[in-house]
Amino acid sequence: MKVEVCLTPELIHQHDLAGKLVVVVDIFRATSCMVTGMAHKLGSIYPVATIEECTALGKKGMVMAGERGGKKVEHFDIGNSPYDYMDKQWSGRNIAVSTTNGTITIKKSNGADEILMGAFLNLVATVKYILRQSKDVLIHCAGWKGAPNLEDSLYAGALIEKLIPIYHLDGDSSLLAHALYQNNKDRLLNAAKDSAHAHRLSKLGIIKDIEFCMTLDQFDVVVGYDGHKLFRI
Ligand code: MLT
Repeated sequence: MKVEVCLTPELIHQHDLAGKLVVVVDIFRATSCMVTGMAHKLGSIYPVATIEECTALGKKGMVMAGERGGKKVEHFDIGNSPYDYMDKQWSGRNIAVSTTNGTITIKKSNGADEILMGAFLNLVATVKYILRQSKDVLIHCAGWKGAPNLEDSLYAGALIEKLIPIYHLDGDSSLLAHALYQNNKDRLLNAAKDSAHAHRLSKLGIIKDIEFCMTLDQFDVVVGYDGHKLFRI
């Protein structure tokens, strides 16, 4: 089987999704939040592309979550910190979420045979699940506003590292991601702190999210997406 990497959703048209297991990754912070939320017995999480869609679901009683440019959307109930998703006040509640890059990347993964949410927080659980499926894998990185980013590429390399030798690398993006990981595997947090979004978040005073999102295997949970909502597999 093969594993390929799409470094930004702007390039997803170059990939054939049919029959593949797609792992969507937005380490800072959309998929890290989603994995955290599903590990904390929230209700369902509904990723939507626009603030308007999120607001409409809020009017139907859902919790509105998300950000633009890293900052909580003014009238939303919560922003996009994994700590928001651990708050017991939302237990059992359905969450509608819209983010700058992550939720669009999820939507652009429709057409795949199966879609998972990838994060360092549930890396091993995701790997174990993938190895039981016998499907080609496409790692779909959210990046930042159409450009690749460091942290999602690092995750892609870390996932690849655990899939080889059962999986072989397909395409230069997978080679790039794997080499990036191999060169930084003993300093993942410090490498991620060099990223543009880590600097952006730090300027907003959002520091602890960066460390939490880079923590390996906090949760033994596999999170799928059925085209409308997230669910625990
Ligand atoms: C994204 O969509 O890129 C992230 O959610 C941004 C963030 O949470 O700061």
